[in-house]
Formats: sequence, C-alpha cells, structure tokens
Amino acid sequence: MAAGELSGRRIVLGVSGGIAAYKSAELTRLLGKAGAGVDVVLTEGGARFVTPVTFQALSGNYVWTDLWDPRRPANMAHIDLSRAADAVLVAPASADFLAKLVQGMADDLLTTLCLARPRAGIEGAERDCPLLVAPAMNRQMWENPATQRNIEQLRRDGISVLGPAAGDQACGEIGMGRMLEPEELLEEVVAFFQPKLLAGRRVLITAGPTQEALDPVRVITNLSSGRMGYALARAAQQAGADVTLVSGPVDLAAPRGVARVAVRSALDMHGAVMQRVHGQDFFIAVAAVADYRPAAAQGHKIKKSSAPLSVALAPNPDILAAVAALPDAPFCVGFAAESRNLDEYAEGKRRAKRLPMVVGNLVQDGLGGTDNSIVIYDEAGRHALERAPKEELARKIIAHAAACAGAWRERRGALPGA
Ligand code: CTP
Repeated sequence: MAAGELSGRRIVLGVSGGIAAYKSAELTRLLGKAGAGVDVVLTEGGARFVTPVTFQALSGNYVWTDLWDPRRPANMAHIDLSRAADAVLVAPASADFLAKLVQGMADDLLTTLCLARPRAGIEGAERDCPLLVAPAMNRQMWENPATQRNIEQLRRDGISVLGPAAGDQACGEIGMGRMLEPEELLEEVVAFFQPKLLAGRRVLITAGPTQEALDPVRVITNLSSGRMGYALARAAQQAGADVTLVSGPVDLAAPRGVARVAVRSALDMHGAVMQRVHGQDFFIAVAAVADYRPAAAQGHKIKKSSAPLSVALAPNPDILAAVAALPDAPFCVGFAAESRNLDEYAEGKRRAKRLPMVVGNLVQDGLGGTDNSIVIYDEAGRHALERAPKEELARKIIAHAAACAGAWRERRGALPGA
C-alpha cells in the first residue's frame, strides 16, 4: 500500500459491540496512515470493548458516542458527520447492528447516522455517502437464517458487505464470521474508491524474475523485485477485473482478490500463460523473463575445479511475442526496462512484437525501489508520466490500457481474417 492512497478522503468509522473492536484501533491507524481523516463513532457496546480515548489518540479527532452530544453547534452529529464523509465504514458490524440497519432503526448515534447519510438520487442530496459494513460474529450467529436474510437485504439496499472471513474465533469455535484483518479492510476501502474501468474484464499478468536451473541448487536469475507487476495486478483487480498473476519467485504477498500461479523458470511461465490466455481481455507482461536458460540443467551439483567453466545457454521462448501473435490475442502491454536509449528501444520492442502498448523505464530509475519514472508508448506516440510510487503508476497504466483497448479492438475487428 502506498502512503496517501486515501489522501483527501474523510471516513466515518463506526465501531459496534464485538471483540473484533480491538482490531478497529489498528484500522483507525492504517486509515490515517493512508491519508484519510477518520471520525470514529462508537456504539455503547463498542465502547465497552475499546474506550473512546484509544480511538481519539489514534485518529487525532474527537470520538462520538452519544446522539445527544452537545459539541456540534446544532446538536446534529448524526447529520454533520456523514455529510462531511466520503464513506461510512462500520467495523465490526455486530449481528444486532446489521439487524437494526435492515429495519432502519435509529436508536443511537451510529444507527441514526447510517440512516441519515446522504444518498445520491435522493432529491437535494448533493453527494453520496456510501455505507460499508464488516460483519464480525460467532459462526452460529453468522450462519443463522436471520443474519443471512439481513445480509441479503443489505446487499439489495446497496450496502457493501466486506467479508467476513473464516478462521479461529474468540469463542473458541472455528468457522465463518471473523472480521477481516485491518490490512484487508484497508485494501477493500482503497479498492472501493477506484473507478471500475475494467469491470467484467479478464486480465493476465506476468511478474517477477524467472530462475533458470544450472543444477539442483544454482540458478541464473535477475534482480526484478516483482513490485511493478504486483502493483499492476492490484490496480487491475481494484478496477474491477478478474486477475490472474503468473509470478516468478518473489518475496511479496498476492494482492487481495488476485489468483496467483507460482512458477520458477521461463518455460514454466510460458506454459502457465499459454494454458490461461484464451478468453483474456488483457495480457500485461511485466516479468523480467530470462532470455536464456542453461541448455542442459545438471541433475547433480556441479563440482568445483580449477579449470574455467563455460555453460551453454539456449534461448527461452518470448512469452509476450507468442501471446501477441495469437489470432485471438488479448490487448497486450509489454514492458521495456532499458539502461539507455529508452525511446528507441522501447518503441522498437513495441513494433517488433506488434504490441498496442509498451511501458518503458530506465532500470536505474526503478529496479527494486518503490518509485519509478515511466513513459508509455502507443500508436499515438509517447506519454511521459511523472515520477511516482509504483502503485500510482500502476493505476495510470491500467487507465491508459483501458482507454486504448476499445479502439484497438474495433480496429482489429475490422482487419480481414480477424
Ligand atoms: N518478455 C517475455 N518473454 C521473454 C522475454 C521478454 O514475455 N522471454 C516480455 C517482458 O515481460 C517484457 C517485454 O517482453 O514485457 C520486453 O522484455 P525485454 O527482455 O526487455 O525484451 P527483449 O525482447 O528480451 O529484449 P532485450 O532483452 O534484448 O532488451
């Protein structure tokens, strides 16, 4: 997660009564770290688990518990807080709280605030303040038909339900009903605010280095961290796509909601991609694929001797070129990491591999780091993007690809034999 992904956003964090309330303290901190202003509203039950003092210290703002709180000039915290907010997130949302929401009850500050929040489409409402809930409860409570009915109704009412997850529960049972972890909730909130430019689209991405075996313990590889490919997978998923990430060995967690296929060598990656490429709308090749592999991997460790050692290398298949040449090829995006002559080499690769789009960067600008400077090359020319965190660049690359793909498909459809 890049710092500032929620900057300028204001979020009301509602905390109802449940043991998962202790995780909401960390969530408050994470939301603040991502740049959001956080107003915490505790129900009476929530305040029994974690005191307002904790949330006040972590959010740096007043904490609200009482519908009759006189600190607002017109005594209307239930109206003012949601008018100023970009979203209300209730985490944890107890079974009782969800039932109250379904019924439209308003017997404390949080339920009243949820009911009174502005909704677009209502005459006079200038803005929309969406509601997200993160249920947390014992698995019997979650699976009870009453709760399941309530959840269905909330979804029909346009409320986003985040989780819950399955796992160990505070009551000692194991099952569905655990609140999502604070980091997962943060990811869901960041995703919620992204425009759904790739809704219903399928995206296949390669990322990371490959490892080419010399013998059972030695490989030829490169310094790719995988961060740019992972950031793209995350951005595509947050833009609404169904994302598959074919990844070489890296030290990164799969982004939330992304299906990861772990591979080691270029040949494995090639096989994994070709097996999954049909029916994809986009193929984004970010992997730093080794161009060569040892012609014959040794079955046993190569033993040292004082004589010079040479290893014969065989070329690996070019995965991107192979995908771009398919008759039903998806919109292909290539990456060109160069150490010099960026324009010439990147645009050269775009033409040679017949790609609608290439993202170029100078290795000294990006390799292994969190920021990068890139230039996008497409049929309309070159577009330089300002230096930025890889997460932000990833969103811009996704937006650019989404914008180009429509016209590209039309042109392709018009080609004879296409
Ligand atoms: N690529 C690939 N399969 C390969 C080599 C490269 O899919 N075997 C993809 C990369 O993921 C990247 C693009 O092709 O999107 C450019 O890769 P790069 O290695 O920079 O280009 P090459 O064509 O291999 O040229 P060179 O190594 O000579 O710069």
